Amino acid sequence: MKQTAIAPSNIAFIKYWGKKDDDLRLPANGSISMNLSGLQTRTTVEFSRDLENDEVIIDGIRESMGRTGEHLERIRHLAGITEHARVVSVNSFPVSTGLSSSASGFAALTVAAGAAAGLRLSEKELSILARQGSGSSCRSIPDGFVEWLDGDTSDSSYAVSLAPPGFWDIADVVAIVSNEKKEVATTAGQARVGTSPFYPVRLLRMKEKVEACKKCIQEKNFSAFGELIESEALEMHAVMLTSSPPLMYWLPTTVMLMRKVRQMRSTGLAAFFTINTGQDVHIICQKKDVDDVVTNLKQLQEVKKIITNYPSVGARLSDNHLF
Ligand code: DP6
Repeated sequence: MKQTAIAPSNIAFIKYWGKKDDDLRLPANGSISMNLSGLQTRTTVEFSRDLENDEVIIDGIRESMGRTGEHLERIRHLAGITEHARVVSVNSFPVSTGLSSSASGFAALTVAAGAAAGLRLSEKELSILARQGSGSSCRSIPDGFVEWLDGDTSDSSYAVSLAPPGFWDIADVVAIVSNEKKEVATTAGQARVGTSPFYPVRLLRMKEKVEACKKCIQEKNFSAFGELIESEALEMHAVMLTSSPPLMYWLPTTVMLMRKVRQMRSTGLAAFFTINTGQDVHIICQKKDVDDVVTNLKQLQEVKKIITNYPSVGARLSDNHLF
């Protein structure tokens, strides 16, 4: 039977960068994120005897199988079926530019394909399964503010909701500076993590950082939260920049925007940045300040597009099929 799922992308406040098991995608550390209302993937999946191969169409373009094919195989294996699948997927935003399309993509694929294969999986099981497709996608399964428990085994590495979307009125205003695809894909970038002399130092403090971030969320302490997530993003990029060969995901406009955010703060506007594997900048602010942040960004001709996100529910089934 045909099934469709909608899943949000998520922005990590405490980042996943480096794995302790590449095949199982077990992260070296736990991480914290928020699901994003404006960055979503919708995916429809149908398994059928009539298909000779899997077919995957993303945003109207037929894709080579790769990781999606491996994920379908994982799901077939779990369900004990052999039929190939037709997968059609649309994103509400540009993919492979660092806006975490693999997070929303693999979360939507997991929920839709799991249901289409006849599996009845719990939220925890869906998160474990999604994680094996792309690590950060396990955080797009539960609702709102989410923690990925790193775990030492596949069954103990999954994400849980820390608070529902309505818990805290904050926003992620994404400033898109270019649709240029990133030069080094995230998985390949992460494989270099051990070459940075700073990585072992980073790992020593990750548990502490996860706890500090959870406390800021629980207490809704926005200024402490903002300082923490901004320094965390810079620390992850310090590891990237000092990897061998170095990873530099920033464009000149990315740096300009980081400075702009700090300048906004100096005028009393509580805004903080975080950045993933790409050039775009996520500006985290309180809901009441969104208009001010957007007004500031609109003055900059380098900003091509602005997408305002609020905390969102996680992945779920939908009746709105794509074929
Ligand atoms: C910088 O989940 O895309 O966005 O497991 O190899 O698919 P794979 O990596 P992925 O890595 C995300 C890295 C990040 C930080 C984060 O989202 O935590």
